[in-house]
Amino acid sequence: MRFDGKVAIVTGSSDGIGRAAALIFAREGGQVVLNARGQDRLEATRTALQAVGKPPLVVAGNVSQAAVVERLVGETLQQFGRMDILVNNAGGGTLLRFLEEVTEEEWDLTVDSNLKSAFLCCKAVAPAMKRQQYGRIVNVSSVAGRNVSRLSGPQYSSAKAGMLGLTRHLAQDLGPFGITANAVAPGPTLVDRVARKWALRSEEDRARILANIPLGRLAAPEEVATVIAFLASDDAAYVTGVTIDVNGGSFMC
Ligand SMILES: NC(=O)c1ccc[n+]([C@@H]2O[C@H](COP(=O)([O-])OP(=O)(O)OC[C@H]3O[C@@H](n4cnc5c(N)ncnc54)[C@H](OP(=O)(O)O)[C@@H]3O)[C@@H](O)[C@H]2O)c1
Repeated sequence: MRFDGKVAIVTGSSDGIGRAAALIFAREGGQVVLNARGQDRLEATRTALQAVGKPPLVVAGNVSQAAVVERLVGETLQQFGRMDILVNNAGGGTLLRFLEEVTEEEWDLTVDSNLKSAFLCCKAVAPAMKRQQYGRIVNVSSVAGRNVSRLSGPQYSSAKAGMLGLTRHLAQDLGPFGITANAVAPGPTLVDRVARKWALRSEEDRARILANIPLGRLAAPEEVATVIAFLASDDAAYVTGVTIDVNGGSFMC
């Protein structure tokens, strides 16, 4: 019960990695706040969490908008009076693009949903975490932010690399208040969305992707979520400003 008494906001938690992390927090005694834009999947995830732990608070909306983030953090504090864990997970990549093909709209969308959302959420939770002299922030970056993106493009690599810079600054600025900030850098992970695309790829295409992963397979969402949970727990109390590669070794390739 590592998260007993802790309140955890997980952005983008109706599906995939965020959902898997929310389930771990709930199973281990935490009070989870779910967020995503679409209401249907959120309701399904609410039901799944209720089956294993405390009923979650659900705050729908696009976290690249400041007003939504204020509502998310405001409702959390109003309901639970504290705010211990923030997982900046919302986001994702657009299709594979070369530099000249990236439109301004795609750039803005990718940077806003991945990087701006993390900035807004950190800014919104910082005052409460400082008051508590306690906080755990985990940013979900990508192997694309450590290296280059083989499945998206420069807009995605730049946004995810930006999250690593943000992580270091958070660790520096918030460390004196007992707040840690770390990142994970997952490789291709078999969330439902990726699994559907994976099934449509040719054998050659799959072999090309797997050749860059020393462990020779894609990750399961739970394999990323367990590392997020570690960084959010007191097992990682003296870890801050780091990025953990959860990518089967593809960071090296
Ligand atoms: N899966 C991978 O291969 C992989 C690899 C490396 C890094 N990552 C990163 O891991 C994170 C989670 O990805 P995933 O693969 O688990 O994705 P996913 O299964 O597609 O789930 C994404 C979640 O984020 C929500 N979301 C997206 N944009 C949002 C926004 N602006 N505001 C609020 N919610 C938003 C989605 O719901 P709605 O659409 O309803 O809002 C959904 O709940 C992302 O940051 C992604 O870049 C994924």
